[in-house]
Amino acid sequence: SRILVLISGSGSNLQALLDASKTCDYPGEVVAVISNKADAYGLTRAENAGVDAVTLSHTSFDSREAYDQALIAQIDAYQPDLVVLAGFMRILTPGFVQHYSGKLLNIHPSLLPKYQGLNTHQRAIDAGDTEHGVSIHFVTEELDGGPVILQAKVPVFPGDEASDLAARVHEQEHRIYPLVVKWFCQGRLRMSEDQAILDNKAL
Ligand code: GRF
Repeated sequence: SRILVLISGSGSNLQALLDASKTCDYPGEVVAVISNKADAYGLTRAENAGVDAVTLSHTSFDSREAYDQALIAQIDAYQPDLVVLAGFMRILTPGFVQHYSGKLLNIHPSLLPKYQGLNTHQRAIDAGDTEHGVSIHFVTEELDGGPVILQAKVPVFPGDEASDLAARVHEQEHRIYPLVVKWFCQGRLRMSEDQAILDNKAL
């Protein structure tokens, strides 16, 4: 399968996917990486892996709709089977989400439905949670609200700073995102009526 990855920053999850896709028998290939920020380090990671790296800056568009339509055009030129959001820090328009319905995945650093939105690690610490984690989900029009496919939990230790917790969560991100992408590429994973389905069983 052809995988296109959208990023805005460091791209450590992109790196995990690039590494996985190079392993024997991995059923997907990253065909391009698009960033809305020219200085995203993930673009360098893509270049180092010999993958097309494209910047489409949102600053030169007057509206979210106009940007998302341009983004759709860039993405579709690569004819991807799957679009993977990996730290793409933009809210997507309904038109964009509908265009890729059932083939758009996101990673969110919390145990959804807890802590949708930003600053998830600090919020988990402030709430006194003893458990935190990461979720991979299909993207629907509801921000961070689409059906969850897989989660990984980590402990929160007394005295943890947000950065400690973020590092612990990142290890799990890098483990589970390539796994979920693999399931999708194998044809085992789909979305139907806002439910995630793996091997014909609702998750
Ligand atoms: C990750 O924490 C991901 O969960 C969140 O953005 C971050 C991206 O990190 N949505 P990276 O750019 O993949 O290193």
